[in-house]
Amino acid sequence: MNAIEAIYKRRAVKQYDSDHRLSAEEEQTLLTAMIQAPTSFNIQHWRFVILRDPELRAKIRKEYGNDQAQMTDASLLILFAADMKAWQKNPERYWANAPKEVSDLLVGWMGPFHEGREWLQRDEAQRSIGMAMQTVMLAAQELGYQSCPMIGFDLAKVAELVKLPDDHVIGPMVAIGKGIKEPWPKPGQLPLEQLVVENSF
Ligand SMILES: Cc1cc2nc3c(=O)[nH]c(=O)nc-3n(C[C@H](O)[C@H](O)[C@H](O)COP(=O)(O)O)c2cc1C
Repeated sequence: MNAIEAIYKRRAVKQYDSDHRLSAEEEQTLLTAMIQAPTSFNIQHWRFVILRDPELRAKIRKEYGNDQAQMTDASLLILFAADMKAWQKNPERYWANAPKEVSDLLVGWMGPFHEGREWLQRDEAQRSIGMAMQTVMLAAQELGYQSCPMIGFDLAKVAELVKLPDDHVIGPMVAIGKGIKEPWPKPGQLPLEQLVVENSF
């Protein structure tokens, strides 16, 4: 499957074969592909909580997840989070293999760029989450699986359940598995002309 095909084939699929299991190798392929997505300053501030425990998944679905079946039936359920302070935490490691002048430049710039701009730290974290989400969903297409991004859950309660650290932000989940029902047709795609402006609004 080429990239354009994967982009068009990906749909938010809601029903999954709950008996299907991913092999360890497939899971590894997906997770490793996911972290090839770009991040600002290569900070890689995303953190991925693999929700593996069936009881935990059932609790999230019933109590905090609006009874979304994907939460229990998908083969893989990933909760996306990000460390908003990763830019402060030994940032040299993000440029360890770059030429020294490049590393010095980027690491030196990283601090002043983020310092005192809490809103930006949060935005950057969520941008990275979004990149990783789409990357893993497209990788799932390539492996013959379907996926569903989900923000329809009680963010605060789920953050508490997974013991999200204070300096992390919670994002959506992505469910991946063997879809058993075709999604409805695209619900209402806006035409390109309503979305694109030339040069300025
Ligand atoms: C951040 C985000 C959160 C979403 N949350 C949910 C959700 O909680 N449950 C759900 O069934 N679909 C959810 N969706 C799926 C969207 O409804 C879906 O992507 C949109 O209707 C377009 O359909 P398509 O992805 O099949 O093209 C979410 C999508 C995104 C990007």
